[in-house]
Amino acid sequence: MNNIKITATVIKSLKGKEPISSLTAYDYPTALLLGKAGIHIVLVGDSLGMVVLGYPDTTFVTVEEIIHHTRAVARSKINSLIAADMPYKSYDTVEDAVRNSKKLIQAGAEGVKLEGGRSIISQVRAIIDEGIPVIGHLGMLPQHIVEEGGYRIKGRMEEEKNALLEDAKSLEEAGIFAIVLELVSAPVAAEITKILKIPTIGIGSGMDCDGQILVSTDLFGTSPGFIPKHVKIKGNLAEQMLQLIEQWKQSLLKPQ
Ligand code: KIV
Repeated sequence: MNNIKITATVIKSLKGKEPISSLTAYDYPTALLLGKAGIHIVLVGDSLGMVVLGYPDTTFVTVEEIIHHTRAVARSKINSLIAADMPYKSYDTVEDAVRNSKKLIQAGAEGVKLEGGRSIISQVRAIIDEGIPVIGHLGMLPQHIVEEGGYRIKGRMEEEKNALLEDAKSLEEAGIFAIVLELVSAPVAAEITKILKIPTIGIGSGMDCDGQILVSTDLFGTSPGFIPKHVKIKGNLAEQMLQLIEQWKQSLLKPQ
């Protein structure tokens, strides 16, 4: 799989055959590592806002910022499919969605991801009509963190579960090639995975999805904020970096 270019069609074909791996990247060297490891989807996520740019949440990230980081990731020319997040407020209307998704593709993205279900279905259809592959995103929607008032598991209540199922079916009908399920109750994520023909990619949604996605800096241990519970393997690269910085500073001291 490492030697072939991964496309949306390849990702769809992996359902039921091989677990789909997806990690975020915001820069060229990280993208090179993910490509080398054969990660299927490299996402220039708007988590960029918190883990790289120092914003309190993803709603501060602009189209220009995603373009800048997508260009860096795309310069890696890796075989992984490179997807980019459509930032908050960049797909409020069909016109915005088409114009901004085209900008991300021009920057080197090979697909875009949007948060939401039936409420954004015309935007999703319009982007797909332009020939741009789309990844859906349901469950906890970080771009709605302010209205939501925090992170919580979605789908535990019957009404919420039914809405998730309907949203997932509508997005599949609209033509998306994969869907991220973030903080969806594990049994509901498993049900959606069973019903849909396209792959589901979970984050904090149990192990029965077709694949898993993580914010790479959570895995590396360089995220400045808290590390979510669903991150099972946690590196400590930030500690190692601090040690190197201190060691280097110490090396400057001249012997008396
Ligand atoms: O922005 C992001 O990194 C994401 C993933 C966590 C799914 O959307």
